[in-house]
Amino acid sequence: MNSLLYSGSPEEKKALNVFCDTWLENSFWPFKEFELSLKIPGTFLLYTLDVDNLSGLALGRVSGDVSELFFIFSRPDLRGRGLAKKLLIDFEAHSLSSYDALSTMLEVRPTNVYAIRLYESQGYHLIGRRKRYYQDGEDALIYEKIFASTVEKSET
Ligand SMILES: CC(C)(COP(=O)(O)OP(=O)(O)OC[C@H]1O[C@@H](n2cnc3c(N)ncnc32)[C@H](O)[C@@H]1OP(=O)(O)O)[C@@H](O)C(=O)NCCC(=O)NCCS
Repeated sequence: MNSLLYSGSPEEKKALNVFCDTWLENSFWPFKEFELSLKIPGTFLLYTLDVDNLSGLALGRVSGDVSELFFIFSRPDLRGRGLAKKLLIDFEAHSLSSYDALSTMLEVRPTNVYAIRLYESQGYHLIGRRKRYYQDGEDALIYEKIFASTVEKSET
């Protein structure tokens, strides 16, 4: 795994706080929202570093045998270089190796074409739509990926 697992050390908290203030100011994800989410069992945050600064984040939670990706973000000045792909691959690997997840799910706006391309290129399939899911009234598309090891097991 190239990404790092956030442990909540003082250095990491400081770096996450700076990252949120710099890049996520107008998003649903201020620093305190990460802190609250991470208190819930099964929740984990992966991050990447560019020199000494955070460059990308992936937050999710495993409940039962299903992993859910809540948020993935790469720094705008570093996009298109495979950062989110790396985080997504590591997110799946951690869900599988640390929590025995069998699949992963996520929601995405239909207008978020880059994110949809990322998910589809990594084997995610559209399984549903939540009507007017987001606060501004936009629907959410639901994507799922069944882990290959699960498929192999059910075929043997
Ligand atoms: C969506 C997002 C995470 C992609 O991050 P990224 O680091 O640029 O993605 P990568 O460089 O790893 O690209 C992975 C794949 O995504 C797609 N993609 C990403 N950026 C793209 C772009 N500018 N044009 C076309 N495809 C793109 C491609 O399929 C790409 O795979 P490929 O290079 O093999 O073709 C990034 O744009 C982002 O942080 N957006 C804001 C937050 C967000 O919307 N998150 C998703 C919902 S929570």
